[in-house]
Amino acid sequence: MRILHTVEEVIQWRTQGLRNIRSKGTIGFVPTMGCLHPGHASLISQSVRENTYTVVSIFVNPSQFAPTEDLDSYPRTLPDDIKLLESLNVDVLFAPTMHVMYPQGIPLDVEKQRGPFVSVLGLSEKLEGKTRPNFFRGVATVVTKLFNIVMADVAYFGQKDIQQFIVLQCMVEELFVNTKLQMMPIVRNSKGLALSSRNKYLCPDSLKISENLYRGLQAAESAIKNLAPGARLSRSEIIDTVTEIWATYIDSHDFKVDYVSLADFKTFNELSGVEKTSKQQPLVISCAVYVTDREKPDTVVRLIDNIVI
Ligand code: PAJ
Repeated sequence: MRILHTVEEVIQWRTQGLRNIRSKGTIGFVPTMGCLHPGHASLISQSVRENTYTVVSIFVNPSQFAPTEDLDSYPRTLPDDIKLLESLNVDVLFAPTMHVMYPQGIPLDVEKQRGPFVSVLGLSEKLEGKTRPNFFRGVATVVTKLFNIVMADVAYFGQKDIQQFIVLQCMVEELFVNTKLQMMPIVRNSKGLALSSRNKYLCPDSLKISENLYRGLQAAESAIKNLAPGARLSRSEIIDTVTEIWATYIDSHDFKVDYVSLADFKTFNELSGVEKTSKQQPLVISCAVYVTDREKPDTVVRLIDNIVI
């Protein structure tokens, strides 16, 4: 595996002298922030299966962190990540420095930021964007930069961050970007907890409690799936089904709910309810919950999860 740090090195690899590597096969790309786990590995393996070459990037992108968030403490495990990537037969690891990605610097205070940024208006203000106002601007900006450097045929993203996928899909379509996106299913532990680099912050007890996140979503999913033809569930009935499963942990202050959403898959517009009809459009039940660590109560981790029905 080649480990490249600069844009020039990637261009040199991609053009291999003057011949474009794309004429010799396809490039699959998996952008990550590192601290790789089996969720990332599933995206990478899919890329390796489907493409001639696979490029993975590791870059903890400052512009998607708010000044109050965990940029400094975000887990960094590069030596282990490299071992995993080698075992998965990745061709190139692109691990740029901050200066390479943001030549003008990147202060976390948006007022002080300089240079080009990419915003996907409309989708970015909802749900995740309400709590994290500049998050999707940061994601769309760094992914645009990475796409322009790697010039991949296909890029792989996880359903885990479903709103991120939908924002990036809109960015790619409407900025006429020449890389296709593919969404991969959420990888969970044996009890249903979605794998996340941020799970590392939680003690075993709190991780166990966090497994209830998915249970809540599953309860809503079965309520919808078991609807009799022509019957209807209102939005609040569906959301109550989720929060009832969490009630013990909300009462004990292990969980503080940021949002539970029932939305249309394509537009992310909130729905007023669900009716059992033959032409039911795909919908997403998604949630974000603050989990307070039982061993270190100062540690509060925001976990997200979703189910597409
Ligand atoms: P990161 O959180 O490292 O995630 C990289 C990719 O892995 C994302 O597409 C994410 O959805 C996917 N992923 C994470 N956990 C997963 C799981 N349990 N199952 C399946 N896929 C999973 O998402 C980012 O980084 C950044 O925002 C990035 C796109 C790299 C831009 O900085």
